Amino acid sequence: RPARFTLDPAFTVGAVNPRLFGSFVEHLGRCVYTGVFEPGHPTADAEGLRQDVLDLVRELGVTAVRYPGGNFVSGYKWEDSVGPVEDRPRRLDLAWRSTETNRFGLSEYIAFLKKIGPQAEPMMAVNLGTRGVAEALELQEYANHPSGTALSDLRAEHGDKDPFGIRLWCLGNEMDGPWQTGHKTAEEYGRVAAETARAMRQIDPDVELVACGSSSQAMDTFAAWEATVLQETYDLVDHISLHAYYEPHDGDVDSFLASAVDMESFIENVVATCDHVGARLKSKKRINLSFDEWNVWYMSRTEAQVSVLDWPEAPRILEDNYSVMDAVVFGSLLIALLRHADRVTVACLAQLVNVIAPIMTEPGGPAWRQTTFFPFSQASKYGRGEVLDVRVDSPTYDTAKYGEADLLHATAVRAEDGSVTVFAVNRSRTEALPLEVALSGLHLTEVVEHSALADADPDARNTLADPERVAPHPVDGTTLAEGTLTAALEPLSWNVIRLR
Ligand code: AHR
Repeated sequence: RPARFTLDPAFTVGAVNPRLFGSFVEHLGRCVYTGVFEPGHPTADAEGLRQDVLDLVRELGVTAVRYPGGNFVSGYKWEDSVGPVEDRPRRLDLAWRSTETNRFGLSEYIAFLKKIGPQAEPMMAVNLGTRGVAEALELQEYANHPSGTALSDLRAEHGDKDPFGIRLWCLGNEMDGPWQTGHKTAEEYGRVAAETARAMRQIDPDVELVACGSSSQAMDTFAAWEATVLQETYDLVDHISLHAYYEPHDGDVDSFLASAVDMESFIENVVATCDHVGARLKSKKRINLSFDEWNVWYMSRTEAQVSVLDWPEAPRILEDNYSVMDAVVFGSLLIALLRHADRVTVACLAQLVNVIAPIMTEPGGPAWRQTTFFPFSQASKYGRGEVLDVRVDSPTYDTAKYGEADLLHATAVRAEDGSVTVFAVNRSRTEALPLEVALSGLHLTEVVEHSALADADPDARNTLADPERVAPHPVDGTTLAEGTLTAALEPLSWNVIRLR
């Protein structure tokens, strides 16, 4: 039987915040060095930024870019990363057993964002692992204060007369994780996050602050962590963070394909926890969600890679090469974020280049798009506007982790000009899925495009040797007649259906 749903402009979820299409640049592996930054590369500009990578970043359509970590930030000394490059110290990076040269730092990050274009926005994390309130304030003063103080004048002396205007700040990273340098209990973190937030707002009441939530829904402390942290910080922060990574465990592909079931329940559980604390505090304020790390990540392979490192510079770690199947799951994660656009107001794809990334590079060589590049760029391009409420009636399949899961996962976004884009994933590995969408009150007459990412070989990938093996293809036969959209979704496919 077909999968079905109805679209009606009277039933909406909420407006998509452009920050939903954020990404993440961490000092990790080759994300920065030989990723975005490679002086001497044939395409590098005067500041060492790779133009081939910048072109792809623009095409990808990223908005907020979180920096500099990740686990890295919990040992970060911001002052090492500014000033004359020749004076910057080399440091041990405990998070990734690497050596940090600091050749790329705060000023280079801001220059990178400017070159992406006006849609790019900084999202800076402060170190609440080995450091605290004082250093966060110093960084904020250096970055944002116009002039006339020691640190703002130092920034000007370093060549950046204009303040960086960083509005969005993360109060540490994954402080619930025992692996984090300076890991804290929820009570300890809640206190330091509140103190830091209060002080940062004394410098600038308009900063937007993200408190650390759980590093995954599977953490033993999940939900209790959020409740405790928010009890301390509710009036002082704007967002709480969520992180989630998915991979098939023990060959359980069917559950992997339904990863968004976990992601959606994670979002809903965090919303419930935020609102519970709000209710307890009798507050009218609403805390929003910053899903500032999400992706498919073959994490189980990473520990072995990192534990043997002997403090190299920019090692090749976490360089997952994504298949078509990975891209379909990835697309489904994007759908999960869009379906909760009313509360998820920031999201960052972790990460941007080389490290579990949509863009890969070779030192001295080319840059290319992974399979996951396509769902992200299409969602960022066409997923702007108002998310319509999609209640799917779909055939299901069995999964070991999530029980019965829908074969169809879908959302739809209505743009300002009234056009609508349906994003849909067929989770079936073997069968095409017929789709019928009833369109009510939308005044749509035409299918502009049906594009699908699918392949006879779901393991197909783009590689250095064959960088254009996988790309979305047009689908014929999708129709809109008498108020009904009819389509067939190929097995294991990510679909973008544009209507006007
Ligand atoms: O994105 C890779 C790592 O995953 C980040 O450094 C950390 O925050 C998370 O555990």
